[in-house]
Amino acid sequence: MIVCLSGVPISMVNSFNYSCGYSVYKPFRKIFPDGEQYIRIELKTSDKVVVVQSLYPEQDKKIVELYLTLEALQGLGNIGNTVVIPYAAYARQDKRFLLGECVSIKALYQSLKLFGVEKIITVDVHSSKPFKDMGYIHIDIIPHSYMINATGLKIDMVLAPDKGAFHRAIDVARKLNVEYDYLDKYRDRITGEISIDNKSLDVKNKTIAIVDDIISTGGTLAKAAEAVYRAGANKIYAVVTHSLISRETINNLFKANIENLITANTIDLNIDFSNWVKVVDITPMICEVLKSD
Ligand code: R5P
Repeated sequence: MIVCLSGVPISMVNSFNYSCGYSVYKPFRKIFPDGEQYIRIELKTSDKVVVVQSLYPEQDKKIVELYLTLEALQGLGNIGNTVVIPYAAYARQDKRFLLGECVSIKALYQSLKLFGVEKIITVDVHSSKPFKDMGYIHIDIIPHSYMINATGLKIDMVLAPDKGAFHRAIDVARKLNVEYDYLDKYRDRITGEISIDNKSLDVKNKTIAIVDDIISTGGTLAKAAEAVYRAGANKIYAVVTHSLISRETINNLFKANIENLITANTIDLNIDFSNWVKVVDITPMICEVLKSD
């Protein structure tokens, strides 16, 4: 099998190659003067090709790149039916919360079928249901316990910042054999303002991991940490798969006294956040799924 990589962090490229032992291929890419992208795949093989494309910023560009890559492979008559999308952008808008809104996950991913894609492997996508509703075989990798073990973090309890993230807390806590629960989050759909209630959870003097899929502004985590400290927690770590962060995000999390952010390498973090952000290479988890496929 050949792993076709264009839009993935360099640590993933190295890991697919050296740790997992896959042959890695990078398409030829260029940008036309008008800004449009061009892809050419010079791959003469009858081996199965799996495209791995992480859709981190610039998301729109990466999505077009994915379509171009799949079409190029289709043109070569060599399209595997599996695509790996470590970070699936546009996945959070998976419902029409307000009348007239676009369900962006549907708008973006249903057309992958045109290129023969039948199976999508993601890492901690916001929700699996839309992919299944669109008729894909969908495998989602939840990496939090792997990331916690990789960093040697010892925790007493896992908390999800809202009910929607509870399945992550359950998965992690069962693997680590610790307690788990979720907080009550409310988001004003018009202003975007968040409030979080600690439900008087028993967190006194405990070391807590708050687990989530994405961190963007840091608002959810900061509000969650404030609520959990108010209830008497000792230390709080954020364990979040995809970090779409800026310096402003980090400042928000510092203010909320979060000890460290532990995150996966599904996104290229192009700012040096020193030791405070611990990035864990989760490529071996993807390779394990591909090998058992
Ligand atoms: C929301 O449901 C997601 O799971 C994340 O909690 C949210 O998108 C994080 O965004 P932010 O860091 O901007 O609060």
